[in-house]
Amino acid sequence: MTILVTGGAGYIGSHTARLLAERGREVVAVDSLERGHRAAVGDLPLVVADVSDRAALAELIDAHRVDSVVHFAAYKAAGESMEHPGRYFHNNVGATAALLDTVAAAGIERFVFSSSAAVYGTPESLPVTEDAPVRPESPYGESKAMVETMLAWLGRLTPLRSVSLRYFNAAGAWPDGSLGEDWSLTTNLVPVVMKSLLGRRPPLEIFGTDYPTPDGTAVRDYVHVLDLAEAHVAALDHLEAGGESSVVNLGTGVGSSVRQVLAAAEAAAGREVPTVLAERRPGDPVAVYADNRRAAELLGWRPRFGLDDILASAWAWHSTHPDGHGD
Ligand SMILES: NC(=O)c1ccc[n+]([C@@H]2O[C@H](COP(=O)([O-])OP(=O)(O)OC[C@H]3O[C@@H](n4cnc5c(N)ncnc54)[C@H](O)[C@@H]3O)[C@@H](O)[C@H]2O)c1
Repeated sequence: MTILVTGGAGYIGSHTARLLAERGREVVAVDSLERGHRAAVGDLPLVVADVSDRAALAELIDAHRVDSVVHFAAYKAAGESMEHPGRYFHNNVGATAALLDTVAAAGIERFVFSSSAAVYGTPESLPVTEDAPVRPESPYGESKAMVETMLAWLGRLTPLRSVSLRYFNAAGAWPDGSLGEDWSLTTNLVPVVMKSLLGRRPPLEIFGTDYPTPDGTAVRDYVHVLDLAEAHVAALDHLEAGGESSVVNLGTGVGSSVRQVLAAAEAAAGREVPTVLAERRPGDPVAVYADNRRAAELLGWRPRFGLDDILASAWAWHSTHPDGHGD
């Protein structure tokens, strides 16, 4: 039986599909390739389709005997969602609703969903537990909360069981540098730091140096993409063992400041990151990091990699693939 990985040509989906295949699981990826890359899928089977295409999805589920779904396919930029909210509701919510119809019609009962710490908005207290209020501050975060709500209803009313994984800041690459994030569309800190290191952009702006943190810069929870991939394997195992539906934070539980990220990047690259100091950005929280105890208790998941591993793997990938996947 086969696991369908939607968004399998994207950053986190491609790492998870590769890890699942390495673990001997049958995998088929589906991706529109709008924001993904065929090369990221390697030799694994890829169907190019939109997840809202019911006929194409039904056909591939039948042909590959799919019995579980890991759903990454979505748009992911909170900033873009503030300018184009409709785009996010259509693709992240509407297309997922269509996918869930197809999944239900095929009798599939196991579903792992890429949610986000963006559902919490600015947290009131740290570390952030799964019981913190869901108060998204962008259509992107809202789209993730809406899918979680759909999954909760389907869990009550149908045989579908799901795990929604609320990722904190995904970063890093396959440790040997053979697979990583295509940085052409990203605004996340680690790839932007890499671009600055490689002279592919102007110096990095450090937004805010007067935050109430030890070094004055904002603090986030960076979690290695391979640790995220492992968590999806663990979530599938949990559902296959008959485990109940849940929402689970995926973070290291450790906050790292912008300056700590820069120091780790410089250690990995052996050169200095060009930077300029800039004003705080409106709406940026001072610090966000996860309480990850539920992931340990429910899924037996513990992150193996730290900040140095994240920056070393990111450097291994970007310095050898300055044009990303090259397509
Ligand atoms: N990267 C992060 O830090 C982060 C943090 C929290 C949550 N997430 C979530 O994880 C998931 C994967 O993120 P990523 O960083 O790998 O993003 P990504 O953009 O690299 O990958 C998403 C993939 O989905 C595909 N896609 C989008 N809409 C589709 C559709 N309707 N049908 C078929 N394919 C479609 C894109 O072409 C792309 O290949 C997303 O749902 C994102 O919201 C990411």
